[in-house]
Amino acid sequence: MKFFDTHCHLDFQQFDKDRDEVIKRAKDKGIEYILNVGIDVESSKKTIEIAERYDFIFASVGIHPLDISDFKLNDLREIEKLAKNEKVIAIGETGLDFYYSKENKDKQKDFFVGQIEIAGKYNLPLIVHQRESKDELIEIIEKIKLPEKVVFHCFCGDKELAEYCKNKGFFISFTGILTFKNAKDVKEVARFYPVEKIMVETDAPFLAPEPFRGKRNEPFMVKYIVEEIANIKEVRFEEISDKIFKNSLSFFKDENDN
Ligand code: NI
Repeated sequence: MKFFDTHCHLDFQQFDKDRDEVIKRAKDKGIEYILNVGIDVESSKKTIEIAERYDFIFASVGIHPLDISDFKLNDLREIEKLAKNEKVIAIGETGLDFYYSKENKDKQKDFFVGQIEIAGKYNLPLIVHQRESKDELIEIIEKIKLPEKVVFHCFCGDKELAEYCKNKGFFISFTGILTFKNAKDVKEVARFYPVEKIMVETDAPFLAPEPFRGKRNEPFMVKYIVEEIANIKEVRFEEISDKIFKNSLSFFKDENDN
């Protein structure tokens, strides 16, 4: 079986001591591809550095909505420059997150729109982060031209948002949250969301799936999320893992290379 961890943060300091071992362990355990996702300018640069050292790791560049405070809108030009690197296959993560504060709503929206434009200009998939921001996010999406490929990462929205994403043809990707016993709503979304539009991610170092919950997450653990989707959808593990792997390939890698 082949797996594609479509979203993780191996550039974070949680991996400073053993980054290469973590990457090797992923490869040894059947992780075919990894997409590392930047959260600000420095993190995006580091992401590219890691991707340049390993042929099976790719990079996404962007500024996360919770990390915009130190940046000016003009700094997105820096992200745009990085987007031209050949290991960059997506823009993000970007989006809106009003969980901690609603004070910088307008600034978050500006950064989101700016990154949607970069993704459109370079024909790159867009990785969207959403938390407590459904209505504002939909408002922007309805107004602006989106790139062809959009994924709602770490999907933990409600059924209504899932229906909306489904109607729009967006992809959603599931993290270890899906394996948590109390994640009833997310499990329900996994049950009805079309399998052709599902991907998986660890979002490492956070959100380790069961049976590793509470530990540091890393890319090889992505298979436990696939296994949970197989259980929820009542299909064979091999079958669903093959489909999800192919979805991820066509979403992120089709036009770029191979
Ligand atoms: Ni993330």
